[in-house]
This record gives sequence, structure tokens and C-alpha cells, in this order.
Amino acid sequence: MAVAGSGGGTDFPAKLTGQVVLCSLIAAFGGLMFGYDIGISGGVTSMDDFLLKFFPVVYEKKHRAKENNYCKYDNQLLQLFTSSLYLSAVVCSWAASFCCKRFGRKRTMQMAAAFFLLGVVLNAAAVDIYMLIAGRICLGAGIGFGNQAVPLFISEIAPAKYRGGLNVCFQMLITIGILIANVVNYFTSNIHPYGWRISLGGAGFPAIFLGLGSLLIVETPTSLIERGKREEGLRALKTTRGVDDVEKEYEEIVRATEIAKKVKHPFRNLIMKRSSWPQLFCGTILQVFQQFTGINVIMFYAPVLFQTMGLGGDASLLSAVITGSINAASTLVAVFGVDKFGRRKLLIQAAVQMLIAQVFVGVILAKHLKITNAIPMPFAYLTVFLICVFVMGFAWSWGPLGWLIPSEIFPLETRPAGFFFAVSTNMICTFIIAQAFLTMLCQMRSGIFFFFAVWIVVMGSFAVFLLPETKGVPIDEMNDRVWKKHWFWRRFFRNEDEEQAKC
Ligand code: BGC
Repeated sequence: MAVAGSGGGTDFPAKLTGQVVLCSLIAAFGGLMFGYDIGISGGVTSMDDFLLKFFPVVYEKKHRAKENNYCKYDNQLLQLFTSSLYLSAVVCSWAASFCCKRFGRKRTMQMAAAFFLLGVVLNAAAVDIYMLIAGRICLGAGIGFGNQAVPLFISEIAPAKYRGGLNVCFQMLITIGILIANVVNYFTSNIHPYGWRISLGGAGFPAIFLGLGSLLIVETPTSLIERGKREEGLRALKTTRGVDDVEKEYEEIVRATEIAKKVKHPFRNLIMKRSSWPQLFCGTILQVFQQFTGINVIMFYAPVLFQTMGLGGDASLLSAVITGSINAASTLVAVFGVDKFGRRKLLIQAAVQMLIAQVFVGVILAKHLKITNAIPMPFAYLTVFLICVFVMGFAWSWGPLGWLIPSEIFPLETRPAGFFFAVSTNMICTFIIAQAFLTMLCQMRSGIFFFFAVWIVVMGSFAVFLLPETKGVPIDEMNDRVWKKHWFWRRFFRNEDEEQAKC
């Protein structure tokens, strides 16, 4: 599955056609699907009607008079509701990488929409916990298929010049999805007893748009050529680029797919070849770091977290709407800033900002939120403000760049396999955070914020010392211009030619 037929560093003649914009927008509904799901779970798991029906033990605990503030939501099954989706997404993104190659990106996106819709129906109509979890597994399949196919599709369909911007738009739609979910939860929490069904059912809209929309879009030229449909691929290239003079790019795609075909075992190549390790390490660790900023504690559990601090049910959902809006708005800084300031500057600046916010939240909770009291209101609001500062930093750095950098640092032969490692690492880490957070909150109390703060120090240092700058470097020249020149990573390229012969 070759990704970089889409232009790489060479300037190929191309216009930004209406067709490309429309196709990218339709595909980005996959991001909306993903984001909606991230945002909806937290609100739903704090709704009494939902808890009473599926998690009566948690409901009891929540309403017991002198219940421990930090432990009222701690329940493995409740966490499994949120996290089962990510486990299923890991397995399914593996399967999706094969479907992408065999059936094309367009078909894989259609499969994503179908799985997701099935999951929505099971969830919205759930009568017991098993139906609920089965629904989550299908949603996970939808996300696994979507997240593997959509970024690939956008990268291939977009002219090289606009690829970066369009990629960050995928993240933009994730954040809009999270925000819509927060708003929906805010209103449905007052609809009794079935508000939660409306929240979960709402996920059907982006899936229907993606499913129907994908009937209108064209398959990417790279995918067509890769599957032997060269003439169709050439025609698709002409219409998507809006020019007739596409010979050079066509040849480049053919060349790229030929090389990719020669590498029979891209996964083995990645793992065995020393010169692949720097990209593999950096691409994967960035996703670990992205998740261990603690962002999804806020995205999944913001309402639960705010209730823990003593804000009422409505106030806490409203606060989640505020953090969601800040998340979406701040992503715009990345859209415009990433090619201007560079990746490292954004990552380092945001690490400092997020560190300060995490430490202050930890200190406030340690001082003011004991086991059974409610936090004084001014401090509750200050905490919401600090969480907004944290989210802002994430939204213009570790969020979008956690996806962008892994998609641009691998050489063509190992790019899809490398990207798969990044996607699955993201899902596994999201699963770990989703599954463990409520228990960690219960055990570590305010210490959890210091736990994430330590991670932020580690990732900030990584960005300072080990992460090379990739801004403005043509995608196919990364090895020569970035890795081989980096003070640390260049040592991995010493015997590159001998190794290449072995793989
Ligand atoms: C992350 C998600 C996160 C979202 C928040 C994405 O880049 O992968 O896990 O919830 O950003 O905006």
C-alpha cells in the first residue's frame, strides 16, 4: 500500500480542484465519527438513567451520602464500556491495512461506515450490558477501518502542496466531533429516561454521511495503479489534479508502487533494519506521548472529573462543552502555524504550558479536594480554567502532530506499515488510559495529575534533544536531509547499504 505517490517533494502541476476538496471533506467525516465517539462516552457514563440501567452499582455508589470523592465512578465494567472500542480498533486497523491494499481506500471507508452504523444501532437499542459492549466492538471496527483509510485517502488525493493542511483538517474534524458530542450530551442529559439513547444514536449521522458520501467520491489514483488499474488511475489523476499534464506524477506513482511491491515484508523490514529504527521509534513514541499527556482523561471523563470536583451535573457537562470549544478553536493554530513555526517549537512550547497547568491542577486538588468534601467554588472554576489552558496547548501541538509526524517521516517502502504501528499504538494507549483512569483516580487521587506531569517532562525533553525538525522537508528526502544528519540518529545509517541487500 503506497502512500507517497501523491507527490512527495517534487512539484507536480496540480490545482486544488473542487473535487479534491469535496472528496477530502466527505472522507473527513471519518474523523467526525471518531471525535463524536471520544466525546460522547464521558457524558453518557455520568447520566443517572444510563447508570441505573446498566451499572446500578456505580449509580448506588455515586449517590451514597459520604462516598469517597475520588472513587465514586471506579468500576471495571464501566471503564470497559469506554475502552472496549479501542481494543477492537487495534485489531481492526490491522485488518483494514490489508483491505486498503486489496480493495482500495474507498471500499475500506465504506466498510468503516457499515461497521460503525451497526455499532450505533446496537448501542442505541441496547437492553443489556452485553449488547452495549457488542455495539462498542462494532464501533471500534468502524474506527479502526476509518482511521487507517481516511488519512491515507486524503494524503493520496491531495496535491503535495496542500497535503499538510488537509491532514490537520482531519484532526480538526475530530475536535469538532468531540464538541458536537459534548453539546448533544448537555441537552440529552435532561431528557429522561432515554437521553443516553439519543446521545449514542447521534453517532449514526457522521457514519451515514460517510457511507452515502463515499458513493460519490473517486478512488485515489495511487490505489488504482497499485491494484493494476493503470488507465483508470491515469484518468483519476487527471481529474483530481485538474490538469492534463500529469505524466511525471503518474510515472512517480508507478515507480513508487513498483518499489513498494519489491519490499515483500515491510513489517520485517521495519523491525530488522537498523536504519528503520529511528523513524519507527519516533513515530511510535510520539503516539505514546500523545496519550500520556493525559488528554483523554479530559476528553472521556471531563464531566465525571468536574462532578468529582463538586460541580453539579449540568455545570460539569457545560464545562465539557467549554473545553471542547477550546480544543476545536485552538487546532486552527496548528493548521496555520505548523509550517510556519515548525513542529518542534510547537511541541516544546506546549509541553511547558501543559506542565504548568497539570501541576497547578494537582496542587489545587491536593489542597482542597479531600475524600468527602466539595471543592470551594472559586477553586473549581480555577481548575476548569487550568484544564482549558492544558487543552489549548495539546490542540496545537501533541494532538495534530502526533498524527502528522508519523505520516511524514517514513520512507515510501515502509510508510504504510510504519503508520499502522503509529495508529495501533495510539489505540492501545487510549485503551490503557480509558481502562485505568477511574481506578487510578481512586487510588492516586490528585497524584494522578503529577503522574501525567512527569510524562510531560519526559516528552518535552524528547522533543528538545531527540526529535528532528521536519518542517518544509520534502517527504521523500527525509532520510537524506533529516535522519542521516541528526546528531544522534545518524549512527543508525552507517551500514545501510549492506542491510538493504539482506532485506
Ligand atoms: C487524539 C485523541 C484525542 C483528540 C483530542 C487526537 O489527536 O488521538 O485521542 O481525544 O486528539 O482532540
